[in-house]
Amino acid sequence: MKKLKILATATLFTVACAQASATVKVGFMLPYSGAYGTIGQTIENAFKLYVEEQGGKLAGQDIQYFRVDDESNPSKGPDNANRLIKRDQVDVLVGSVHSGVAMALAKAAKDAGVTLIIPNAGADAITGPLCSKGVFRTSFSNWQPGYAMGPVAIDKGYKTAVTITWNYAAGQESTDGFKEAFEEKGGKVIRHLTVPFPTVEFQPLLTEIASIKPDVVYAFFAGSGAVKFVQDYAGANLAANIPLLGSGFLTDGTLEAQGASADGLLTTLHYADNLNTPRDNAFRASFSKRYPSNPIDVYAMQGYDAAQLLDAGLKAVGGDIKKRDQMHEAMSNAVVDSPRGQFKLSAAGNPIQDIYLRQVKNGKNEIVKVAVEKLADPARGCKL
Ligand code: PHB
Repeated sequence: MKKLKILATATLFTVACAQASATVKVGFMLPYSGAYGTIGQTIENAFKLYVEEQGGKLAGQDIQYFRVDDESNPSKGPDNANRLIKRDQVDVLVGSVHSGVAMALAKAAKDAGVTLIIPNAGADAITGPLCSKGVFRTSFSNWQPGYAMGPVAIDKGYKTAVTITWNYAAGQESTDGFKEAFEEKGGKVIRHLTVPFPTVEFQPLLTEIASIKPDVVYAFFAGSGAVKFVQDYAGANLAANIPLLGSGFLTDGTLEAQGASADGLLTTLHYADNLNTPRDNAFRASFSKRYPSNPIDVYAMQGYDAAQLLDAGLKAVGGDIKKRDQMHEAMSNAVVDSPRGQFKLSAAGNPIQDIYLRQVKNGKNEIVKVAVEKLADPARGCKL
């Protein structure tokens, strides 16, 4: 009898301890090396900043972090995802930056029934044919910034364009988005040029652009590749006759390294450096205080919002991550008070958001106007 009582007390004690020390395990699958190497750390920093601002817990739960460097290498994607899912048994995955890696991650997350929040990679397919109830994005679809640049180019009177990018999903989809909107309004993309990811040998293609003589060039590059491309474009003296446009990744998080070569560039993105709203100013002040040497950019904002979205889901279930369906429902319906401006997710899980036209001035991506208001990705092929 006595033994039984001790056992019952011990069991009660264990249950109580389990509840008090409940943690939510978050696994970052991000690039910490390679062409997108600095982006991964920025996203992680911003995610942690939001959690710190909530007193180190979300919905009363401690957050335990795990991380894997995915090297922006899609072929290692399934193994890296399984390190977090099977070895570390994470509850929530946060990743990645590269679209090819994110596709592998989305598949692994779906198969394992683990919640996935994508803080960057824009692969259209993830919120298209591969869409799923437990997969969310706090960033953009590759189509969105590309599409928004189409009407801007038409308004400037450009009739012919060359597109140039890395030959992988993000570049293809960004330039396809531009082409769709540009051609809808009567423009024509006369050549599509590519280099393999993450190559930065741009000279032969710049020579080709000089001989094609389009009215304008639209480019998608990001990270260190964007730095080199913008420098090479300026160095080739093309800009005076053939203006360069791009999705905002061409100049976000890169301006310090690009220096004067980026001056005046027009890009489209769901963020800018001088939105000057109370929400954005508070975020920027908090981020730069916590991470003085980390530039604030679109990636920081997206990582911060990934934590905000998780918080919204966890709050709705009183911190009980096991109530996954209910948590996902709350995440789908959340209004995220983002530094970019408040947004909601589409049914496919992608932000419906204003896309800003920005211009590089004094080392900043300054807002010119809203290029397209509340732009929703068409989510082609998504059936939920
Ligand atoms: C992507 O691969 O989807 C990607 C990578 C870097 C960016 C934007 C998109 O800056």
